[in-house]
Amino acid sequence: AKAMRNELSQLVSTVDDTQTKKAFDIEMQSFFYLFTRYLAERAKNQELDWERVKTPEGDQIVPYSSIDQPVDPKNLNKLAVLKVNGGLGTSMGMTGAKSALEVKDDMTFLDLTVRQIEHLNTTNRVDVPLILMTSFNTHDDTLRIIKKYANQQLRITTFNQSRYPRIHKETLLPLPKAAGDDKTKWYPPGHGDLYNALLHSGVLDQLLSEGKEYLFVSNSDNLGAVVDENILQHMIDSQAEFIMEVTDKTKADIKGGTLIDYEGSIRLLEVAQVPSEHLEDFKSVRKFKIFNTNNLWINLKALKRVMEQEGMELDIIVNPKNTEDGTPVIQLETAAGDAIKHFKNAHGVNVPRSRFLPVKNCSDLLLIKSDLYSLQHGQLILSDKRQFENTPVVKLGDHFKKIQQFQKRFKKIPKILELDHLTVTGDVYFGRNVTLRGTVIVVANEGQRIDIPDGCILENKLLSGNLNM
Ligand code: UTP
Repeated sequence: AKAMRNELSQLVSTVDDTQTKKAFDIEMQSFFYLFTRYLAERAKNQELDWERVKTPEGDQIVPYSSIDQPVDPKNLNKLAVLKVNGGLGTSMGMTGAKSALEVKDDMTFLDLTVRQIEHLNTTNRVDVPLILMTSFNTHDDTLRIIKKYANQQLRITTFNQSRYPRIHKETLLPLPKAAGDDKTKWYPPGHGDLYNALLHSGVLDQLLSEGKEYLFVSNSDNLGAVVDENILQHMIDSQAEFIMEVTDKTKADIKGGTLIDYEGSIRLLEVAQVPSEHLEDFKSVRKFKIFNTNNLWINLKALKRVMEQEGMELDIIVNPKNTEDGTPVIQLETAAGDAIKHFKNAHGVNVPRSRFLPVKNCSDLLLIKSDLYSLQHGQLILSDKRQFENTPVVKLGDHFKKIQQFQKRFKKIPKILELDHLTVTGDVYFGRNVTLRGTVIVVANEGQRIDIPDGCILENKLLSGNLNM
């Protein structure tokens, strides 16, 4: 810890401007606190006692259908909406903010969120502000997109989350040597940083002084996370200081965090915290039926109380990474949902899957861009022409992993209203006005290329080999 402290003081001393230095110093102190907690926990080698991990019961997770009650639209005046927007779309090969990706009708995630809230405000004649938490990675992209809304009625506030130094895995010393060192040496410490950043930026006090009492938080790539007045009303009626929206897990959701009962109190359990011998247990849909959508409802006065009185300590998630030149580093991160343990009457609400509609990869993007969905005031609506309840299962191979490749390989997004299952592997290109129905599998073998021609209809087809249609 001493060596780390010396290096951090050294980092702080590289800043000239007094104002900047002060803010940077506070940031490094928060980081140092997290780091010392990490060292202490590592020394104790304390693992979760799996015997005590229980499935939550009774009123710890309330079904959405049970909270359908008359709502008072005036509640909305006490609400603010926040999007956590500090992450990059690296898993989709993006170098900028994921929320700057055009997802539908030339609109980005951020544009769609703005439409959703504008609609909420005009229909209810209320003034719900939009708040965006950015990171040093996403700040510029975000400002560029929201600039066009400057003269509109909707109030948009942005604030920056922390920037912490990445840590050498072997030496446990910070990677950067000066505060101005390039981006690759720093990281945004997860969305759990939200609470510190809200406090330090002054945004928490600003919201409270405007009479805001509730904050609805969600991931910026979750297009299903619209304001839900039933949940807000339920939060008020049940005097819950914190509500986490959870939803039923399918076999594809095994990575998401889940709510557990730990000695009578409700806690978030992330996959990274599970002892390896219990991983199968964690993934099973039987024991842990639900997962965290990261749609969170927070009582702002209670948040202020927790921050001031007990401090918002959150479990540390160690994220191992490699730098571009292959140096192993670790990042100490936290998750926003873990805050649930600090609040009174906190519980989960089990919501329909439609409230969790994220774009994690290009297969998700294909579904959202397709004719399965249309937009209504920034909200995605599943087409009533779809005959089946489920959306198709789409598995695009590695050639489609990066967004640039995805865009190149689809001249236009195929029509998939009647599709059940699509698997594409290898070097495949889709023409215009292609229709896919039933189960379609396209496999181009190594060194081969398949072009699906314009206007082609594929129904229950397996295409493979070196095909020139
Ligand atoms: P995550 O990075 O936790 O989940 O971001 P993800 O989108 O599934 O990412 P990958 O694909 O597994 O890497 C969830 C939300 O939290 C925000 C992101 O912008 C996203 O909206 N986030 C994440 C932050 O605001 N700050 C962070 O430090 C990390």
